[in-house]
Amino acid sequence: MRYPLSPISFIFSLFPLSAYAQALCNGHAELCSRQYSNITQIGTHDSAFVGTMPTDNQDVNITAQLDAGIRFLQAQSHLDGSGSLNLCHTTCMEKDAGPLSDYLTDLKIWLDANPNEVVTLLLTNGDNVNISLFDTAFTISNLKRYTYTPPTSPLDLSAWPTLNELIGNNTRLIAFLDTGAAPSVYYILDEFTYFFETPFDVTDPKFAECTLDRPKGATADGRMYIVNHFLDLSIGSVDIPDDSADDTTNAATGVGSIGAQVGICEGLYGRAPVGVLVDNFDRGNVFAAQDALNGLGGPIKGGGGGGDGGVGGVISKGINDLKNVF
Ligand SMILES: *[C@@H]1O[C@H](CO)[C@@H](O)[C@H](O)[C@H]1NC(C)=O
Ligand SMILES: *[C@@H]1O[C@H](CO)[C@@H](O)[C@H](O)[C@H]1NC(C)=O
Ligand SMILES: *[C@@H]1O[C@H](CO)[C@@H](O)[C@H](O)[C@H]1NC(C)=O
Ligand SMILES: *[C@@H]1O[C@H](CO)[C@@H](O)[C@H](O)[C@H]1NC(C)=O
Repeated sequence: MRYPLSPISFIFSLFPLSAYAQALCNGHAELCSRQYSNITQIGTHDSAFVGTMPTDNQDVNITAQLDAGIRFLQAQSHLDGSGSLNLCHTTCMEKDAGPLSDYLTDLKIWLDANPNEVVTLLLTNGDNVNISLFDTAFTISNLKRYTYTPPTSPLDLSAWPTLNELIGNNTRLIAFLDTGAAPSVYYILDEFTYFFETPFDVTDPKFAECTLDRPKGATADGRMYIVNHFLDLSIGSVDIPDDSADDTTNAATGVGSIGAQVGICEGLYGRAPVGVLVDNFDRGNVFAAQDALNGLGGPIKGGGGGGDGGVGGVISKGINDLKNVF
């Protein structure tokens, strides 16, 4: 047993809450001194598309995602018919989750209420609009004040701040855009300067690879990376999320699991990803997978979904329950 106390008494030993607030970063004391580039976060793919339709990717909204422990949000933007920058799935006719500025306001409110949490936001610019529209949405939502801007672009993997430093400076939001970033809006970072990604819209339930897909022709050297670990089902020419596989896709271990695919990645690149994007994060066992990738917690149990995630999973669940109470 790694912890001298049972998980429950460990949680209660965190009182008073002021001590708790100082002791933990993204839910774990061990992460405070870790560099941003050396921490793996499970991310919600298409975090704004909430519901049960084939155009939806998550079961609950971003406030609930963050409350549950998600610290990496991905969201897709498009222009709606009236020229407003909204969160839409492929087109705003197909699925329109409302203005980007509303989504960013929800995120701002959550960051206000959770001062020890560092969140990554990855936006996609589906209609390749001018970065100034993103700047406007960040300004309307008052979110700009939380953003972190690296001293150089790119930034060496060994030069990223620790969570403690980001929290200390209150620069707790690292915001990236896949295309259209520009120095005029310095705080929205160009995703592919800092990251590479594995292929998306994967239809192999085994997730048996971890190829560098974007940026095309780039090298992994010096880039953090994001694993697209969400399974699609091809129906004719259309890919829809394979929700029925979520329990195994989002498991911590086993064939096709998060742990299995990231194991392939670590073998290829010699380090863990910074983001692992999933659909319906609340199915399977994503926090057990995250804790294991970060070297936290006990042995992973379960695997087919429904496991308790071992000691680390119980503790982070307890902490999140506490946060919901207070
Ligand atoms: C990442 O963090 C772990 C745990 O603290 C540490 O052992 C490892 O050396 C770090 N890796 C890098 C590249 O800093
Ligand atoms: C998010 O969903 C929860 C229920 O899961 C609801 O109580 C809350 O009002 C929603 N928040 C927003 C900002 O829509
Ligand atoms: C975006 O719009 C601004 C004016 O708001 C303009 O100065 C800039 O050149 C535009 N950028 C691109 C990439 O078109
Ligand atoms: C924190 O803020 C100080 C003062 O502005 C700055 O010198 C330092 O570089 C910042 N640290 C990080 C990690 O951004």
